[in-house]
Amino acid sequence: MDKFVIHGGSRLCGRLTVKGSKNAALPIMAAALLTDQPVVLKDVAQLADISNMQGLLRSLGCSADVVPPKTSGLDAALDPPGQVMRLHVEDESLSHAVYDIVRTMRASICVLGPMLARRGIARVSMPGGCAIGDRPVDLHLRGLGALGAEITLDGGDILARVPRGGGAGGGRLKGARIFLGGPFGSTVLGTANVMSAATLAEGQTIIESAACEPEIVDLARMLNSMGARITGAGSPRIVIEGVESLSGTTHRVMPDRIEAGTYMCAAAITNGDITLDNCPLDAMLAVVDRLEAVGVLVTEIHDKGGVTDPLRTSARITCSRNLKPVEVTTQPHPGFPTDVQAQLMALLCLADGNSVVTERIYPERFLHVAELARMGARILRQGPTAVISGTRRLVGAPVMASDLRASACLVLAGLAAEGTTTVNRVYHLDRGYEKMETRLRTLGAEIERVRDRQVAPTPAEAIS
Ligand code: EPU
Repeated sequence: MDKFVIHGGSRLCGRLTVKGSKNAALPIMAAALLTDQPVVLKDVAQLADISNMQGLLRSLGCSADVVPPKTSGLDAALDPPGQVMRLHVEDESLSHAVYDIVRTMRASICVLGPMLARRGIARVSMPGGCAIGDRPVDLHLRGLGALGAEITLDGGDILARVPRGGGAGGGRLKGARIFLGGPFGSTVLGTANVMSAATLAEGQTIIESAACEPEIVDLARMLNSMGARITGAGSPRIVIEGVESLSGTTHRVMPDRIEAGTYMCAAAITNGDITLDNCPLDAMLAVVDRLEAVGVLVTEIHDKGGVTDPLRTSARITCSRNLKPVEVTTQPHPGFPTDVQAQLMALLCLADGNSVVTERIYPERFLHVAELARMGARILRQGPTAVISGTRRLVGAPVMASDLRASACLVLAGLAAEGTTTVNRVYHLDRGYEKMETRLRTLGAEIERVRDRQVAPTPAEAIS
């Protein structure tokens, strides 16, 4: 298993293009199951989770191939354009997402809604808990049940059927009014599942308390380009007028706001000066707000004369490292995203005073706290809240976290720490960050990937 060795202290400077969003791409790839025509996706990041989803789709009769890029040259090798992927359902008789694939990636649950709506039957292994919490799927099942699906649990699998279904041309789901709120707000992938399934249902579906995340808007945009009739995505009330069939499409995946937020924190923690192109600033207002409160300068760079897409802008991030302490609470969008909580906490370890971080989406998502403490951070955690007493310096150490964003947090801490930090088990990072070490190196970081053959990931660790 690989690890990163980081020699801290280098100031990050330079330019990066934000990659396509992992969390937008996964449900969008699954939506290719809603049609028997080809779907072409642009800007798909090269990530372990994306490869896992390709494998899952292939096991369900959908080819999922990367179209080779046409560019060449050194710059392209360092920061290549996003992948183009072609997805095409060729066999609709396969409907079982097996445990061996689902256990490697929770987002496998995304195939449930599309497969059920199109094939009339879906069997998906029930995802277990993961390092960041219990992560139930009750809201997904409640939503699909409201659309008329019969749902049972069978041998660890969720078995969902459309009554009188059982194959393309069988019974259809029925439009319904559905409330998708739960104890921690709405559900992002639950909204994706129900919205995707409702595109092929008979009649109108209204999802109340829908997730408002930009990735849901991107999915709705893609579904509408296939012929779906969805309005209201991005608000808590989504209305879907069901249609009989969907066509193929070509869609460019939105840029990754979590990757962008991570590199913003990296610039800030190293006292750096970087510019992010293809940056979805309009989807990052809460992150920008908290960074500015810390003392980081985030400036949008306007194209001379041209009309800029607010989701694909350029932003310059600079910081003098006089960091002010802040309070931050994670919330569903448009609140501060849980997926940037750990990275911001790395930065707050070096602030001048006490910061308070409260986690309202995954109250247990603090795997980074004990590891940061190994590097000299002073953090007191009580339940869903962590109080971070800023310190003048972090010190390099061997660290490890069993979650993607916690691992990113430790890389950031390593970039700012004195001495050498070894971040073990970077396969977590490979799930959600394309070539992180190469990209950080182009900005001036001293970081390298080292092969460590000793320990293999266990199934439980591989999930998130
Ligand atoms: N929840 C329920 N019941 C459900 C579903 C969710 O109670 O049926 C709870 C969860 O336990 C959690 C909250 O609702 O407390 C929100 O969970 P949600 O369903 O929105 O999470 P998700 O859709 O499974 C996606 C992202 C996560 C991100 C969350 C929250 C993908 C592939 N994953 O997960 O991303 O943290 O939304 O924004 O889109 C990551 O990228 O590192 C990551 C974990």
